[in-house]
Amino acid sequence: MFPVTPSAALAAATPVAILSALSQEQRGLVELLRSPRKVSHAGRDFWLGELHGQAVVLALSRIGKVAAAITAAALIERFGVRRIVFTGVAGGLADGVNVGDIVVATDFLQHDLDASPLFPRYEVPLYGKTRLASDVDLSALLFNASCAALAQQSLAAHGFAGACVHQGLIASGDRFVCGADESRKLRDLLAGAGHAVLAVEMEGAAVAQVCLDYGVPFAAVRTISDRADDSAHRDFPRFTDEVASPYARAIVERLLNLL
Ligand code: ADE
Repeated sequence: MFPVTPSAALAAATPVAILSALSQEQRGLVELLRSPRKVSHAGRDFWLGELHGQAVVLALSRIGKVAAAITAAALIERFGVRRIVFTGVAGGLADGVNVGDIVVATDFLQHDLDASPLFPRYEVPLYGKTRLASDVDLSALLFNASCAALAQQSLAAHGFAGACVHQGLIASGDRFVCGADESRKLRDLLAGAGHAVLAVEMEGAAVAQVCLDYGVPFAAVRTISDRADDSAHRDFPRFTDEVASPYARAIVERLLNLL
């Protein structure tokens, strides 16, 4: 029998996937990767390696629900990941969810899904559900990691005084929401249907659906880059260029130490 060294055991371990929405976020993590190896598959680059003692696969979701679902399915089918953690940015919808805050998802819905009158509006056809839940244990770790990251000096230096971590419902749809009227309407429509949404983005619900189908635990964290209002198109690029990467890095490093 051959002795099993820690690195051999690590190589044999099924990896954790870190799925990033933005190349800026992924770049910071690839730089930290030990024994990095790039594998191209389904028109995407996947980075395999070790981060804080964990076998990981780093991938970019790409933008929108279909692209993100393809990436998630590839992570599971091709790379056998045992958990998926998503980091990205989102537009704040609820009052008090401000730029620089962090939202850890408890569950997701698709705000642009409407198969009525065959199924109730927002319900995922044939699932009998509107909201798809994140994994409770993984999300609790992600929440702790996010709180610890926000307390870090280097993030505080970005100047979001009073930034805080929220937990709640996130809405996904194939649309960048960038108008005060539009975001208010979206929030009120969802609230009227019993869904108090904290933030809006373009991928999470799709990844949640893939993970549900495959029985893979999923958790997601979104940093608020804009308020989905009339200045969202300016706030978003400024945030993603300057701030998203250190946020993602601080959160992911802390999470991996907790796993
Ligand atoms: N991701 C970040 N900001 C967003 C917005 N305003 N709408 C949709 N997705 C987003």
